[in-house]
Amino acid sequence: MSKRLSLGIFDSGLGGLTGLKELMALFPEADIVYFGDTARIPYGTRSPETIIRYSVEDMNFITSFDVEAVLVACGTVSSTALPTLREMFHLPIFGVIDSSAEAALKATENGKIGVIGTDVTIASGAYERAIKTRSSDTEVYSVSCPLFVSLVECGFIDPESRVTLAAAEEYLSPMRETGIDTLILGCTHYPIIAPAISKVLPGVKLVSSGKAAADSLFETLSGKYGDRHDMDGGTVRCYVSDKPYNFDAVAKVFMGGVSITAEQVDIREYQ
Ligand code: DGL
Repeated sequence: MSKRLSLGIFDSGLGGLTGLKELMALFPEADIVYFGDTARIPYGTRSPETIIRYSVEDMNFITSFDVEAVLVACGTVSSTALPTLREMFHLPIFGVIDSSAEAALKATENGKIGVIGTDVTIASGAYERAIKTRSSDTEVYSVSCPLFVSLVECGFIDPESRVTLAAAEEYLSPMRETGIDTLILGCTHYPIIAPAISKVLPGVKLVSSGKAAADSLFETLSGKYGDRHDMDGGTVRCYVSDKPYNFDAVAKVFMGGVSITAEQVDIREYQ
């Protein structure tokens, strides 16, 4: 009998848990290792060189487990470091960019797509390129929303939170003029404040980058996974680089009510 499918997933922090939740639903029998670099978040305001260095260390840690594929559940790393990671690590590595572009192109009816992400992600132009290479006529409007990650990490996630609504209004009201009908949440933290985003952009379809990437990983690996469907439930292990204070409570929000605990790892040992 073949062994259980083993997957790795990482993010700069807890945003990638939105992707973990999807992976657990798609691969209930898989063993999954999650790493959140909570000691060094945010990545989205750092230089590409630093993001690449951090993400190589994250991969060194994740691949210290016997994983068969890795989901980079971070828009910032996916838009900056993916070519380097694919050169250095010889296993399938899935980012969030191409899958989100494809999901958005499927969703749009008027060919106008918005993209939001961290400063680095938007400056890289990665989502825009991924959309334009697939459909050059599609109009793309990109805006960076750097405060959203801090708001989510600090727990301002209530749809009525005045500070979150004010930030959403500030960043996204210009998007209303563009007539977009679809918006890529190009950072895996953003689905947590999707209700506030929808208040500013009512009727706009939201594409979660973590979900799009998990779906694409499933499409690619489900054939390989097929004969393992009858196995017992898999294990999920979570690691973070800072003390996991309050991790269970915060993770529960990201995981839509599912409880999960984390262990601390010293990521400096994985240089
Ligand atoms: N979750 C990360 C992303 O998708 C963003 C957080 C950060 O800035 O580190 O881009």
